[in-house]
Amino acid sequence: MKLKQPILETPNLLLRPIALSDVDAVYEYAKHPKVGPNAGWQPHINKEESKSFIKFALQKRDFHQPGIYAIIYKKKEKMIGTVEIHSYKEFKGELGFVLHPKYWNKGFATEAAKAIIVYGFEVLGLRRLAYGHFLFNEPSKRVCEKLEFSYEGTLRNKYLQYNGDVIDEAIYSIISEDYFHHKISWVEDFKKSLKVDYQEES
Ligand SMILES: CC(C)(COP(=O)(O)OP(=O)(O)OC[C@H]1O[C@@H](n2cnc3c(N)ncnc32)[C@H](O)[C@@H]1OP(=O)(O)O)[C@@H](O)C(=O)NCCC(=O)NCCS
Repeated sequence: MKLKQPILETPNLLLRPIALSDVDAVYEYAKHPKVGPNAGWQPHINKEESKSFIKFALQKRDFHQPGIYAIIYKKKEKMIGTVEIHSYKEFKGELGFVLHPKYWNKGFATEAAKAIIVYGFEVLGLRRLAYGHFLFNEPSKRVCEKLEFSYEGTLRNKYLQYNGDVIDEAIYSIISEDYFHHKISWVEDFKKSLKVDYQEES
């Protein structure tokens, strides 16, 4: 059985399952040299690559993964990035996201991630949500702080970059005890503005 992937709506964003029709929007940011390399992948060199990524994303749900959400900026009705819980297994998963550079530093990744964190703990029933960033990725580190993840340590030589470099990764987590025992200060207020819609679910 597929995991639930409800539509999530926040003040500025709509998060809905990614679709093949997002290919132009994905290519627009995935070709940018500052996007993929900060998240561990090579910039897309053509739209076919973006299409293959979306096909892969859609297949994830057949393998009992929560699936990749497209981030829609409501004001412009534009798909500006993705957010997901990946590496989901039994009771744990890892948060990941990318955003079009034109929309950086407006709080959107943090807003999208908050919605996914609520979904992760309250819909998927996670006990652990991990977050990792490369040491040079200061914006990602800052988002992680704003979300109130706890630092666990830095794994040395953890990740093989597409250019052959082997690099360190800082690892953080939120666990269900943090989430449900009110240790994450933004949760209660944020939930008042979050809409969760299961209408697309079979
Ligand atoms: C990481 C990423 C998703 C952040 O998206 P975003 O919407 O800009 O994030 P937010 O606006 O919510 O927060 C960004 C924060 O980083 C801060 N920041 C930006 N550049 C920074 C820098 N060079 N050094 C320190 N902080 C920086 C911003 O000021 C902001 O913090 P503030 O709200 O306290 O001012 C975006 O930069 C991105 O898509 N990067 C490429 C892919 C990627 O790195 N994905 C994450 C992999 S772990």
